[in-house]
Amino acid sequence: MKILVLNGPNLNMLGIREPEIYGEHSYSALCEFVEASARELGIEAEQRQTNHEGVLVDLIQQALGRFDGIVINPGAYTHTSIAILDAAKAVQLPMVEVHISDVPAREAFRQVSYIRSACLKTITGKGFDGYREALAFLKDRLTEKAQDREQAPRP
Ligand code: DQA
Repeated sequence: MKILVLNGPNLNMLGIREPEIYGEHSYSALCEFVEASARELGIEAEQRQTNHEGVLVDLIQQALGRFDGIVINPGAYTHTSIAILDAAKAVQLPMVEVHISDVPAREAFRQVSYIRSACLKTITGKGFDGYREALAFLKDRLTEKAQDREQAPRP
């Protein structure tokens, strides 16, 4: 089982950017955490970070046929990007939206999420743990689906 973990703009600045909101750990610490979580869960995770909306669209499109699911933190593009939503709808891969901070408790302009309607679940305000929860959720969903397929009567 292979999951793509995508982080959007400014997430490479973790540890430097607003530590009171996003914590004191760096992006590379997040990558190590995600890698260790995937290993524990017995799944494979490939991680990418970009500051560019179009690159996120490209990465989502290229995930088709290569990955079983996507964990995405689109950063500020969460609140603005119809292009990222359209890419997610196009590939139809099981997707979970993650935010490190407690977005519902923040500014009004952060209360819209375009990507949410293409996601099975949204996890906010749990810091790095949200990524582990997202991986575990996708693993369970994908395992259930595979079992359903096995049990389906053959024509
Ligand atoms: C974020 C929340 C967004 O509102 C913000 O623009 C980010 C990070 C989070 O992880 O909490 O860049 O997605």
